[in-house]
Amino acid sequence: MRRKVTVVGAGNVGATTAMRIAQKELADVVLVDVLEGVPAGKALDLYESAPIEGYDSMVQGYTSDYSNARDSDVVVITAGIARKPGMSRDDLLSTNMGIVESVCKEVASVAPDCVIIVVSNPLDAMCHVALDTTGFPKNRVMGMAGILDSARFRAFISMELGISVENIHALVLGGHGDTMVPLPRFCTISGIPVSEFLPESRIDEIVERTRNGGAEIVSLLKTGSAYYAPSSAAVEMVEAILKDKKKILPCAAYLEGEYGIDNLFVGVPVKLGANGIEEIIELKLTEEERSALHRSAEAVRALVEDMKRLRGGK
Ligand code: APR
Repeated sequence: MRRKVTVVGAGNVGATTAMRIAQKELADVVLVDVLEGVPAGKALDLYESAPIEGYDSMVQGYTSDYSNARDSDVVVITAGIARKPGMSRDDLLSTNMGIVESVCKEVASVAPDCVIIVVSNPLDAMCHVALDTTGFPKNRVMGMAGILDSARFRAFISMELGISVENIHALVLGGHGDTMVPLPRFCTISGIPVSEFLPESRIDEIVERTRNGGAEIVSLLKTGSAYYAPSSAAVEMVEAILKDKKKILPCAAYLEGEYGIDNLFVGVPVKLGANGIEEIIELKLTEEERSALHRSAEAVRALVEDMKRLRGGK
């Protein structure tokens, strides 16, 4: 039987996510957006490329109609407004909170057994909105951030060394914000620590570029934020779930005591399979890494507190 993935938000990230899912023939895709015509138009355009690209995944788009999202296996939420130059992810908080809440109500009613992947920013805070609104178990609500941040780190190392991106593994933990925690200790090139290739000072510069990776793209594009790499990262998660791959990937997961962090979505390595987050991998961190992770978690917690205030103390 065909699997079904619904992508909410037919903007840059959503439409590119739909395209990648269809091209990999992972599932039929339903695109939903509030805009008139846009989801149907982009879906039709994507399906018209199917004869050329050679995929049989169906792609359909609807305006504010979730009936076709019924029984989706996975729902990717990209709805919201994107970051503009000079705007921090946190500025997006109040607008995207309302949007993600309304989307999640619809999703929970038509696809109560799905796995939700949140992409809308501020990412970790939006995961809380999704978990609270749907009442889903924590293994079925997660956020896409760590794969993207790690991919940026890997891309920069590859550009620096002229070595295949495929050989480079990296791990970025923490919230998807300026306090994210790239961990050079876990960055390897075909199993060889990156410190064998680069001096610490250069690694530090690459870590800093990774932290500002999203802002770097925003300042170049001027009219929006990144979407090619974010959609690739979301689709890696979709694939791991649909194919029950049991992949270890850094994702925003709801922690209940792991890493000494309680009741908070933070980016950590998890095992992704058919049941969503099947395991949280707890690494032994150095004191410095651990305190950086906790600082990042506190930034997420501050946003969660802000949301409570915006909701009027609920
Ligand atoms: N329901 C469905 N779609 C919505 C809703 C809603 N309630 N509100 C807004 N949208 C749609 C917009 O109409 C738009 O088409 O979400 C889409 C967002 O697309 P873009 O503006 O192109 O933004 P994009 O670059 O795709 O980023 C989406 O992902 O990476 C994050 O920070 C980014 O939060 C942003 C999200």
